[in-house]
Amino acid sequence: ELYQEPYRPQFHFTPQQQWMNDPNGMVYLDGEYHLFYQYNPYANVWGPMHWGHAISKDLVHWQQQPVALYPDKHGTIFSGSAVVDWHNTAGFGTKDNPALVAIFTYHDHLQENLGATTYQSQGLAYSLDKGRTWIKYQGNPVLNSPDVKDFRDPKVMWHADSARWVMSLAVKNKISFYSSTDLKNWQHTGDFGEGIGAHGGVWECPDLIKMRVNGSDEEKYVLLVSITPGGPNGGSATQYFVGDFDGKTFTIDPAFNQQLSAAEVTSPSKQPAIWLDYGTDNYAGVTWSDVPKADGRHLFIGWMSNWQYAIKVPTERWRSAMTIVRELQLEQLNGQYIISSKPVDSLSTLITETHSVNNITLAAAQPVDVVKLAKASELGQKVQLDLELNQASVVELSFNNAKNNLKVIIDAAAGELILDRTAAGLADFDVNFPSVQRAPLKIEKGVLHLEIFLDRASIEIFADKGRTVMTSIVFPEQPYTKLNISADNTVQLKQVTISQLSSIWQ
Ligand code: FRU
Repeated sequence: ELYQEPYRPQFHFTPQQQWMNDPNGMVYLDGEYHLFYQYNPYANVWGPMHWGHAISKDLVHWQQQPVALYPDKHGTIFSGSAVVDWHNTAGFGTKDNPALVAIFTYHDHLQENLGATTYQSQGLAYSLDKGRTWIKYQGNPVLNSPDVKDFRDPKVMWHADSARWVMSLAVKNKISFYSSTDLKNWQHTGDFGEGIGAHGGVWECPDLIKMRVNGSDEEKYVLLVSITPGGPNGGSATQYFVGDFDGKTFTIDPAFNQQLSAAEVTSPSKQPAIWLDYGTDNYAGVTWSDVPKADGRHLFIGWMSNWQYAIKVPTERWRSAMTIVRELQLEQLNGQYIISSKPVDSLSTLITETHSVNNITLAAAQPVDVVKLAKASELGQKVQLDLELNQASVVELSFNNAKNNLKVIIDAAAGELILDRTAAGLADFDVNFPSVQRAPLKIEKGVLHLEIFLDRASIEIFADKGRTVMTSIVFPEQPYTKLNISADNTVQLKQVTISQLSSIWQ
């Protein structure tokens, strides 16, 4: 039955059937959060791209909608964004009924196959019925590639200071900025990225976000950039930069630039980078447009897979899930700018049962069975832990069943969070899959808080209030039923809470 198949996520969005990759066009309008996505309606592998569509009122429960955008004579529909045209700048709607406008990339496979030097362009479509039906703009394409093959993934925002729309576009190994008063005519205004950050692969799916620094009035611009390959643990990943935007181009903040140069070199291309998520499976993520000012959250969702093996993962009816929705925050800590990711609050509405246990002393070579200690009937989908460590502690969390073992290791001495999925379940469908993944981890004053979400085929770890995040897919042969925790010397487990989450598909 639908949504009951093996490995079908129970609280993550998946398309009813067939292939999905990047999230696209996320926009909020009249109580509805829209999620569009790269979709092939004909097969469970990548192919002719369409925009699939789902709607949520709470960012947790999703309603599958019909396909929103189909290929046309200009090409198939690659990634892009959507905005509410409140001032009717494009003239597609009226001030009383503003249009939703999607800005996306056309990929012309015919031209590509003919050996053309350019075959990606940007097009528009609009909806006057809250995203239910879409009309392509007659004047498409609105922006042609000057001379490069990789010219895609427009993310558009309203820049109030210059009263213009700003488009961030991935152009091979950099991000280019364009501006417009009507969404139809675009002027190139600047570029960012050559020689800075990780360049192990092509740059894709940018997002330029104006954020307030937590607890202050300072405002900065954050630029998310996905790259594939060249991620910190192989394949696809998303890096970020903090700086300023003057309406024309993005410049990196000097403090962030120093932080970047000093960053541990985690990218295989040997350039320092700071990653939004160090796990292997959070790619092409961007934030929602038009979230009401009074709400002010920066809501993010990513594609929970990796181009290294996405088309081979062991599911049939559908392929790939999105991450849980996360709220991004910008913090300044000890002079450093950090983006933290927090699981969206509304996830807690899924909790049906909670069990917890306090003050357990972990001693060397004596793993504790947390499910038993907390008197829970089963291992829940959400696990929260508070650990009191000393500088040399190594703590190991083992999520396991009779056959498989997914390990999460906190190595205080090395300052690392490690995720080992080599024995976590099915892994032989691709040589890159059985990986040991590493992330730099700061432990403040010996205390570490961890929040972990486990669905049927994924783990998402938010360490240190979301300052270090690891997202990874796993394919256990049976659900993990136990969580054993052990330490190499004396460590206090101040508390552990296990919660059961109900399925969003019921
Ligand atoms: C990123 C990406 C985008 C492109 C889309 C095609 O995963 O390669 O750059 O628009 O996927 O499906």
